[in-house]
Amino acid sequence: MPIDQYAFKEALRSWASGVTVVTSRAGDKVHGMTVSAFSSVSADPPLVLVCANSGSTTHGIIEEGGVFAVNILAEHQQEVSNVFASSEYEDSRLERVSWTEGKTGAPLIDEALASIECEVASAHREGSHTIYIGRVEAVHSTDAAPLLYYKGGYRSLLRDD
Ligand SMILES: Cc1cc2nc3c(=O)[nH]c(=O)nc-3n(C[C@H](O)[C@H](O)[C@H](O)COP(=O)(O)O)c2cc1C
Repeated sequence: MPIDQYAFKEALRSWASGVTVVTSRAGDKVHGMTVSAFSSVSADPPLVLVCANSGSTTHGIIEEGGVFAVNILAEHQQEVSNVFASSEYEDSRLERVSWTEGKTGAPLIDEALASIECEVASAHREGSHTIYIGRVEAVHSTDAAPLLYYKGGYRSLLRDD
């Protein structure tokens, strides 16, 4: 029996996640988009994954460049998430934030909680998305509160420390 699309999306809305901006570089082209479909895969060797819609511009740049960086956003970077999800700012996203170039050439967004630089180890096309497995080439971390996403809205961690 086919799965009801509304019920499927509603179930997925119950998953609380962090928010990342996945950036990439292919030659002179740099680009990035907001991504919540991120996970660690393996500690040894260090591997992570992101799922990118195959219709997104970011997908095309990752395909071409073979590298990506996962920038885990901090609590105060809600506007950064909005900018990198917006089609209005598609051509000027990286002009609207401060960033530096990482080891792989992919942009590292200033004040992100952590940035994980990867080379594409493998790519798996499934439905509308491609799962990119990234071999971690460098990591950068700071200590601050994360930006969270749940039921279609941004949330903050309730701190008990
Ligand atoms: C909170 C949030 C999470 C998102 N997660 C993903 C994701 O995991 N994968 C994806 O392909 N798009 C995701 N998107 C949508 C993209 O950010 C959006 O479609 C973007 O405009 C694509 O940009 P591009 O076509 O310029 O690469 C998410 C958007 C938001 C607001």
